[in-house]
Amino acid sequence: MLIGKASEYRYSEITPQSVFLRRREFLAAMMASGSAFAAGTKLEGVVKSNYKVDDAVNSYKDATTYNNFYEFGTQKELPAIQARNFKTSPWTVSIEGDCAKPRKFSVEEIMKLAPLEERVYRFRCVEAWSMIVPWIGFSLSTLLKQVEPTAKAKFVAFETYYNRKEMPSSNYAGIPFPYVDGLRLDEAMHPLALLTFGMYGEMLPPQNGAPIRMIVPWKYGFKSIKSIAKIKLQSSMPPVTWNLAIPHEYGFYSNVNPRVDHPRWSQGSERRLGEFRKRPTLMFNGYDEVAGLYSGMDLKKFI
Ligand code: MTE
Repeated sequence: MLIGKASEYRYSEITPQSVFLRRREFLAAMMASGSAFAAGTKLEGVVKSNYKVDDAVNSYKDATTYNNFYEFGTQKELPAIQARNFKTSPWTVSIEGDCAKPRKFSVEEIMKLAPLEERVYRFRCVEAWSMIVPWIGFSLSTLLKQVEPTAKAKFVAFETYYNRKEMPSSNYAGIPFPYVDGLRLDEAMHPLALLTFGMYGEMLPPQNGAPIRMIVPWKYGFKSIKSIAKIKLQSSMPPVTWNLAIPHEYGFYSNVNPRVDHPRWSQGSERRLGEFRKRPTLMFNGYDEVAGLYSGMDLKKFI
């Protein structure tokens, strides 16, 4: 269960100012020395957030060796091997489209925008397995507010960095690249939507989407797009990779919903990595506070 809602807490309550300042100094020193934000770099000044679940956290090994990152292989163990040398620094993210202040940000600039929080989220893959992971980041809304979305912006489109030469499985993965995904603007602005830089106290390893990815915990895992290079605010609904690949199986919303089965299997239960028994899947993956985003929508139709 969620112990609290972000809206109930202010940063000043969860982040001592001194911790925040120390982290800014750490980032400044990293940038000045030219050190790369390599995977495994410990993140300083991370504050525990009130977003946490009671269930036991999965092991680092579970979360970093059982991955979906089709650019680096379609079998779960391959991204950890094939993304090992993926160069994730320097890295910029272009934020463009319907906003007053479009611009490119370096990852370091983005990381300085707000205190880094550790949030222990449930993560439910559409393939009916799940895990509990301590992600590190802050709400995507913090970044989007920087570019000042205009009234025309109704959706947010995300695009993963793509280079065929660096991504060995791009020719046979069976899905189009670059990997793309999207959210409605109000979904993207929901405090639970996490812009993620790290996990287990460290920078993300490449196989988990370094150096910057989304974690949208009330949606199936494929909405949590990795290694983001571009974010575009727009008036139209953006295409999403899995809908492009298999339109009759995947829609735009992809909210975790135990009442709507996948055409090929039940979504009523899931197996937590490391366990044998099945657990019941929870509506919105247990994040009931997002229900208001979908009031009046038929969630059997808008899958
Ligand atoms: N992002 C990109 N660019 N490419 C992918 O293949 N796979 C998605 C999502 N983001 C994917 C992606 C799927 S299907 C899942 S379940 C999650 O990443 C897996 O995240 P994890 O490997 O960190 O558990």
